[in-house]
Amino acid sequence: MPPWLSQINSAQRKESKFDSYRWVQLATIGIDNTPRVRTVVFRGWSESYEMEIYTDKRSQKYYELDLNNKVEICWLFLKSKCQFRFRGTASFDITKANQKHWDSLSEKSKCMWSWPCPGELFVNQPEKAKKIRTDDLSDNFALIKIDINYVDQLILNSSVHKRRKWILNKEWKEERINP
Ligand SMILES: Cc1cc2nc3c(=O)[nH]c(=O)nc-3n(C[C@H](O)[C@H](O)[C@H](O)COP(=O)(O)O)c2cc1C
Repeated sequence: MPPWLSQINSAQRKESKFDSYRWVQLATIGIDNTPRVRTVVFRGWSESYEMEIYTDKRSQKYYELDLNNKVEICWLFLKSKCQFRFRGTASFDITKANQKHWDSLSEKSKCMWSWPCPGELFVNQPEKAKKIRTDDLSDNFALIKIDINYVDQLILNSSVHKRRKWILNKEWKEERINP
């Protein structure tokens, strides 16, 4: 288990009452080489501690990550006044193995993968919305797995702010740094 994980688990536990305890900001490099950032839901850790995020294959981030899979994630825990920033490499799983992830979603959430293409101009189609089926794994569903190699933690909960970083170089190395 990576050494930073217990810190995140404990911060997450403190705010599990709020929906926002799973909201993270995922930054990518746009196709035009300028930054992009958006909120996504943290869905858990894989067996090898990759961060898991669900997305729609038709979304812009899918194309961006295909061109440049380097990402940064910023995760703020309000109650702990603690910020984590993760750097890593993203990969996609779009196989039928995603069925278990699909099954974990509510019916309401599953519908989103059948909505019209994200980012395109809105056209009102109420009849189409009624015909959405959610039993089969959507072809638009993608699991993003982020393999983390750098973590920066900043804690503001005392008069002296604390900051440290963990870097993966075969083994994880922790260093305290100035805030
Ligand atoms: C609270 C919240 C949670 C979100 N969760 C996700 C998510 O888990 N996956 C996702 O692809 N988009 C999620 N979104 C939507 C994204 O922020 C973004 O608008 C969408 O993915 C399109 O981004 P893109 O054009 O950069 O690909 C969420 C938005 C909010 C406000």
